[in-house]
Amino acid sequence: MKDKISALLKASIAALDCKADIPPALLQNVRVDRSKDKAHGDYAANIALMLAKPLHQNPRDLAAQIIAHLPESPEIERTEIAGPGFINFFIKKTDIAASLMQMLADERLGVKPAAAPETIVADYSAPNVAKEMAVHHIRSTVIGDAVVRVLEFLGHKVIRANHIGDWGTQFGMLIAYLERRENESGAGLDLSDFEAFYREAKACYDSDADFAEKARRYVVLLQSGDAYCRQMWQKLVTMTMAQNQAIYDRLDVTLTPKDIMGESFYNDMLPGIVQDLKDKGLAVRDEGAMVVFLSEFKGKDGKPLPVIVQKKDGGYLYTTTDIACVKYRVNDLHATRLMYFIDSRQHQHLEAAWLIARKLGYAGPEIKIEHEAFGMMLGRDGKPFKTRTGGTVKLKDLLDEAETRVEALLTERGSTLEGETRRQVVHHIAIGAVKYADLSKNRLTDYVFDWDLMLSFDGNTAPYLQYAYSRIRAIFRKAQLQPGPIVLTAEAEYALADALTAFPEAVNQVAAKAMPHLLCTYLYDLAGTFMRFYEACPVLKAGVEPQQAQSRLSLCLLTSKVLEQGLHLLGIRVMEQM
Ligand code: ARG
Repeated sequence: MKDKISALLKASIAALDCKADIPPALLQNVRVDRSKDKAHGDYAANIALMLAKPLHQNPRDLAAQIIAHLPESPEIERTEIAGPGFINFFIKKTDIAASLMQMLADERLGVKPAAAPETIVADYSAPNVAKEMAVHHIRSTVIGDAVVRVLEFLGHKVIRANHIGDWGTQFGMLIAYLERRENESGAGLDLSDFEAFYREAKACYDSDADFAEKARRYVVLLQSGDAYCRQMWQKLVTMTMAQNQAIYDRLDVTLTPKDIMGESFYNDMLPGIVQDLKDKGLAVRDEGAMVVFLSEFKGKDGKPLPVIVQKKDGGYLYTTTDIACVKYRVNDLHATRLMYFIDSRQHQHLEAAWLIARKLGYAGPEIKIEHEAFGMMLGRDGKPFKTRTGGTVKLKDLLDEAETRVEALLTERGSTLEGETRRQVVHHIAIGAVKYADLSKNRLTDYVFDWDLMLSFDGNTAPYLQYAYSRIRAIFRKAQLQPGPIVLTAEAEYALADALTAFPEAVNQVAAKAMPHLLCTYLYDLAGTFMRFYEACPVLKAGVEPQQAQSRLSLCLLTSKVLEQGLHLLGIRVMEQM
């Protein structure tokens, strides 16, 4: 309906006498919004306010002219001018019912595929080899995956790039330590505790001169492509990513091994990047290293920010790789939108790498490069989320705890579910709760990880939404009638209808802003609106006219479908019973 109204407004403006005086750029900013208060119509447009100034006209007069030139449209019941010059649109009630029926018949629930599908690279998750997945990787994984699901649903081609940390000087030490452990244990080594492995390797490196010597030799060998070192390195990568894949699967995250495009992947490109920088006079030698000075950023001393792209010893850096990334993603993958789901603390690093890539001409102005930044996950004490002893919380332990807590919660709630069904329900609630806790907050802020809040069946949580879904499904197990044509009469029905038709907008917002919490808020509001409808408008009670019951069953059905689809886009499962 929004698009329809925008089109009507454009047609009206094209018919105005003063149309030649309208700056075309202004028309891009015209907005049609849903009205909060239905007494003021269903939609409101700010167009007259936008155009009044450049046209030197009174906004209310202009609004009247625009209304006078609106083409006839059967859906619009009437319009009115409000406040300083808003145009309010009232939609015919029968049309609202008709669009709900259309939504119900549409597998996509009214969400249209993008008019101009793009190739998008989503850089997310990106854990480091031989390290435990840390909290910021969880956030990146969960938020990135939700946005990817939404983009794909809208018909974009999304390339998942799992930019794992699989390169760097620490690998000499890790290979040397893996070798030692293999020699000790004889057969295949089961690397289940990366945290300990890394710590022990570091301890050897710091205390044992021969070991450190070997570690340094191995780095050089690895970088020159030595077969033995490559093979040992590959073992570390494979072991780490096998464990991480198990976590992705458990979390119902869509990443697979073929999405791994780690730092090592760009290694061969790096000499060429530095060469390009030299050729363009962008990098200069400074104390032996190759450095780009960026006047756009000021360092601590107020001087241009120095960005090292190659160290004195010839080694490359994290930034050099990220410059190469842009080139590869634009040139080889043909992406027009690059999205990076990374901790906000890496913002300057990313901005610097992208600026250099743009200066090199690797990405033209038409390429969008976005940092989908996020804040930290905090404990209840407001400090960064850690174990009691101050260590990194292992994701596996966190998920185990979630399941234990949900199991206890079901018992407490008197659940009669048993066996495999119960196990599944526990799993889906636990995973849903952990993911939703992260997704439902504006990603830009830090958020507090709180078991009690996230597992609550009240409030903006996954269990609440999953339960709302299951309750609607229960209605259908009891109902004698089939859903039928929708006829809206009660106020609560209109409110629900309004919430339902806003679904496509919520989905599109997530795609545009990479902010899944907008969809969470939408679903939470929808569930609340549904509950109010269900209390005010009996469906199964005796005495309800069959036609009315059937209409209301359709509203129930559509609500359940929107909840299911919405949660699915967030990577959260629903259950018939819980
Ligand atoms: N591995 C990095 C880390 O643990 C994140 C990589 C993010 N992606 C990128 N293109 N820099 O912090």
